[in-house]
Amino acid sequence: MGKTDINSMLPRPYRLQQSYQETIDTWTLELEPVDGTDGLSFAPGQFNMVYGLGVGEVPISISGDPLKPEKLVHTIRAVGAVTRALCNLKKSDELTIRGPYGTHWPVEDTVGHDIVIVTGGVGLPPLRPAIYHLLSNREKYGRIVLLYGARTPQDMLYTVELSHWRGRFDLDVETTVDTAKPDWHGNVGVVTTLIPGAPFDAHRAKAFICGPEIMTRFTVQELQKRGVSVENIFVSLERNMKCGVGLCGHCQLGSFFVCKEGPVFRYDQVRPFLMKREI
Ligand SMILES: Cc1cc2nc3c(=O)[nH]c(=O)nc-3n(C[C@H](O)[C@H](O)[C@H](O)COP(=O)(O)OP(=O)(O)OC[C@H]3O[C@@H](n4cnc5c(N)ncnc54)[C@H](O)[C@@H]3O)c2cc1C
Ligand code: FES
Repeated sequence: MGKTDINSMLPRPYRLQQSYQETIDTWTLELEPVDGTDGLSFAPGQFNMVYGLGVGEVPISISGDPLKPEKLVHTIRAVGAVTRALCNLKKSDELTIRGPYGTHWPVEDTVGHDIVIVTGGVGLPPLRPAIYHLLSNREKYGRIVLLYGARTPQDMLYTVELSHWRGRFDLDVETTVDTAKPDWHGNVGVVTTLIPGAPFDAHRAKAFICGPEIMTRFTVQELQKRGVSVENIFVSLERNMKCGVGLCGHCQLGSFFVCKEGPVFRYDQVRPFLMKREI
């Protein structure tokens, strides 16, 4: 499913063109290859191993448009040493990239279906390339529904793009926050509360989910209550990674290596292993 060739094993130098602060702890980086070569072709849902020079290397999903490979985009939440260093990069600073790695959202196999995307927090960046793909091929799909939850209104990513998407007649977007001040006029509650009222036909729907595992579990339950069968639900998972290419075993989940056989899985394949501590 995923595309990993020998060239993707070699770290390539990239330069920061621009960065945007999305929230208090999350930045979107736009990167260009230092050697002026072609951009990085990728499939929606794949990730790169991103190396902050002298600090360390971490797996980060590609969050840009697959039709614009010349602009490599990563959205990164600063949670530790490496991600903080990456978020602190300034224009023209360099870093290296290996990838793209892993499996992708099944955007080809789901042609003709309704697509329901459920995501929370920094789960939206790994899904954004899939949204771009669906919108670029809009006529091939049934209804497309995006349900997005954040902790607070200030934690929402891509707010300008979300309001643009909300204005489209061919995409249903609902957002919610866990908590908000009284001046918030949107939904309050966890993202799963949006599922019962969402406009899709459960019997022809395919669902793509990315977020914390607890959110994934409850989302699957709600989708099943609506009648979506478990074989039609796909999830993207995170595990600690080192090599990113199926060699070191750091990302093992049951019989799977998440870096190679994931990060996107059909839910029923990985259900027995979720909500367990990592080895
Ligand atoms: C396939 C894949 C795609 C990813 N895509 C993105 C992305 O698009 N944007 C993004 O911001 N992050 C993404 N991550 C998570 C990112 O890799 C981690 O946040 C990063 O490795 C943390 O490294 P650090 O050195 O900054 O922090 P560390 O010092 O390693 O960790 C700091 C804190 O974050 C926690 N943490 C570390 N890794 C994870 C993780 N994978 N999930 C949850 N908590 C973690 C640690 O337990 C610790 O509490 C992805 C992870 C995977 C496996
Ligand atoms: S990170 Fe090494 S096997 Fe997956």
